[in-house]
Amino acid sequence: MSKPVYDIGQVCELDRWETFQNGQPNDIFTRLRKEAPVYWHEEYLPFENGFWALTKHEDIVRVSKDPKTFSSATPGILMSYGDPEQGDPVATAALVGNMIAMDPPQHQVYRKMVSPRFSPKSIREFEEGLRNKIKEILDGLADKKEFDFVTEIAEKIPLWVLCEMMGIEESQRQKVRDIVNNLTDASSQMGNLNDAQKAAGADSKHSENALKVWVSYMELFKMGRDMIEERRKNPTDDLMSVVANSKVEGDGLPPELLDGFFLLMVIAGNETTRNTLTGGLIALTENPAEKLKLIQDPDLFSNATDEMLRWVSSVIYMRRTAACDTEIRGQPIKKGEKVVMWYGSANRDEEVFEDSHLFKVDREDAKKHIAFGAGEHLCLGNRLGQMQIRVLYEELLGRFPNIEAISKPTRVPSNFLNGISHLKVKI
Ligand code: HEM
Repeated sequence: MSKPVYDIGQVCELDRWETFQNGQPNDIFTRLRKEAPVYWHEEYLPFENGFWALTKHEDIVRVSKDPKTFSSATPGILMSYGDPEQGDPVATAALVGNMIAMDPPQHQVYRKMVSPRFSPKSIREFEEGLRNKIKEILDGLADKKEFDFVTEIAEKIPLWVLCEMMGIEESQRQKVRDIVNNLTDASSQMGNLNDAQKAAGADSKHSENALKVWVSYMELFKMGRDMIEERRKNPTDDLMSVVANSKVEGDGLPPELLDGFFLLMVIAGNETTRNTLTGGLIALTENPAEKLKLIQDPDLFSNATDEMLRWVSSVIYMRRTAACDTEIRGQPIKKGEKVVMWYGSANRDEEVFEDSHLFKVDREDAKKHIAFGAGEHLCLGNRLGQMQIRVLYEELLGRFPNIEAISKPTRVPSNFLNGISHLKVKI
């Protein structure tokens, strides 16, 4: 490791979910942006050395746009892939071929394959169906005074969109929902154990969860492979059919790449959107004047969507690995060192957003947020995610303008996804 230029000692534990149990640690990020924008963060895992924590908007955009220097592929985009000596099964499953963990030129080959399905035109064609589905969900809630926003609304919308896009049949949708929820519950409870937790017997719970996660992955892959086989025999016009019948250098895609694609779509598209929808409701509850502005001026819904994305930053971080010796903001970085980009911090960077800690539905530069990342791997589902948030809030506030959160959110213990599993609301 090069000597830290911005040396302020060890001041935070961004590698632990506990740091995120009340949401993004904005005080820590504010300090890092000011005092140590490229910060050397030790890790307590014995097999990991540490990482460079990036907290400034400008630096994260620069790194995201330079995949030659900052690789997504070696070994991937998570902070840690488990203990190599223990052959962690979760890590192995997460490593299966996946475009999010590829570098150009390979990355572009796979991205091009599916990107027409995410074009503005393709996404617009979904809007009417989505609006009708949302109306149906809201109709079913009209007689209830209080309910759980996550289970009754937020988790249903992205799941419906994904299943429609990928061509997952009605009879299979409950299963997909259960698998996704199992994966979220079990993997978020795993975290990385410290010695005290191990001594307290958390090891066996950890192994139990690892097994649960592994089984869920296998179920998901089996479902994907069955669909691929069927689409190869009987092509349709859904996204699974596109992938099943795509060729790279004359050959069909290998099974591990197909597994990886299915996993990426189901996880990346679901969790992220559901958590932004729920975080948006918390923001509106905490800022009633902003909610009123939105009700009085429906033209603001599109901008409010970006402000919710900025405010929530539902993906907490992505990681890159230096492919050669380099530097960021004067800090030398050695080949092979980890660089972790904290999106929630970039989205509160006071050099980019005035009054960055205020939620403002009419914020002029809300679109500058990087909740979807930037550059090479900019979220492929960004328009789809945006549309879901906008249409939900247009319908929701039109129908239940008094809706507000009446409980604290139950947060998913994770330092990767800013997740909420329950939130009680009244309408
Ligand atoms: C609020 C919603 C969402 C957020 C905040 C979000 C966030 C992100 C971020 C930060 C990345 C960048 C990864 C990187 O640079 O390493 C990403 C990539 C990706 N997202 Fe999303 N996402 C959302 C919704 C969706 C949806 C709805 C889909 C698909 C249905 C989707 C599919 C993908 C895919 C395929 C990639 C990989 C793109 C690539 O590697 O080229 N996401 N997302």
